[in-house]
Amino acid sequence: MKNRMKKKVTRTRNSTADATGEGAPGKAVLTGMRRALLAWYDRERRRLPWREQPSAYRTVVSEFMLQQTQVATVLPYFEKFMSTFPDFASLARSTEHDVLAAWSGLGYYRRARMLKGAAEEIVRSHGAEVPTDPAALLRLPGFGDYTTAAVGSIVHGLALAAVDGNVRRVIARLFEFDDGKGRNGRARNTDKSTASHAQALLSTRRSGDWNQAMMELGATVCTPKRPACGRGPLRRWCRAPAAGRAEELPRPQSAPR
Ligand code: ADE
Repeated sequence: MKNRMKKKVTRTRNSTADATGEGAPGKAVLTGMRRALLAWYDRERRRLPWREQPSAYRTVVSEFMLQQTQVATVLPYFEKFMSTFPDFASLARSTEHDVLAAWSGLGYYRRARMLKGAAEEIVRSHGAEVPTDPAALLRLPGFGDYTTAAVGSIVHGLALAAVDGNVRRVIARLFEFDDGKGRNGRARNTDKSTASHAQALLSTRRSGDWNQAMMELGATVCTPKRPACGRGPLRRWCRAPAAGRAEELPRPQSAPR
């Protein structure tokens, strides 16, 4: 009896079914996944300037730059932007012309205008500090669900899962789950969502690192094409490779209506 129970516990901990089946993953599985991903992130993460010398301001600027733009492209712009506008106050009192000049080449110039607007609001209404209240974050120019979760978790440790394209792919493969949520925002025949899976998985103890670790996994290992599943820190729990479906998940997003 003892042996059988022991066997069951071991199987539960390793079983992909337990992590990915109809029921939510058990506590032991969640703990194992969190430990494995955070240990991998501590060891293998790219040493990026906003990670190695973090500040609230550097986090906000990096998150705006990284919306729709890859890390390698952002790097030189980030350092230059920091020397031109070293803090929220200098960005808030600058001219739009100067901000757009510093942004020139990064594209999506709306982001630059929003970033300046957010800096103005942070200086005017929050004493030049990033607010801790998620509702106040969401009201800042350019802050949607993703940016609120990323900035809130990295700067203040708020327990909010950030879901970008990389995270969506990791969740889709790990749980063999795809809500098919396209740019029209509608989920395909499921009452679960990528966001609810991401939130259940979040390490609340290290939420900022956790969100960055999920993004890092999607950007460097769990890539859209030819993912390196054998190197994945979550491979023992990951369902898609076992089903031969890693590359096909997630399905392409539905077209906007
Ligand atoms: N993409 C969005 N936020 C990021 C971050 N903090 N590090 C790396 N890539 C990111």
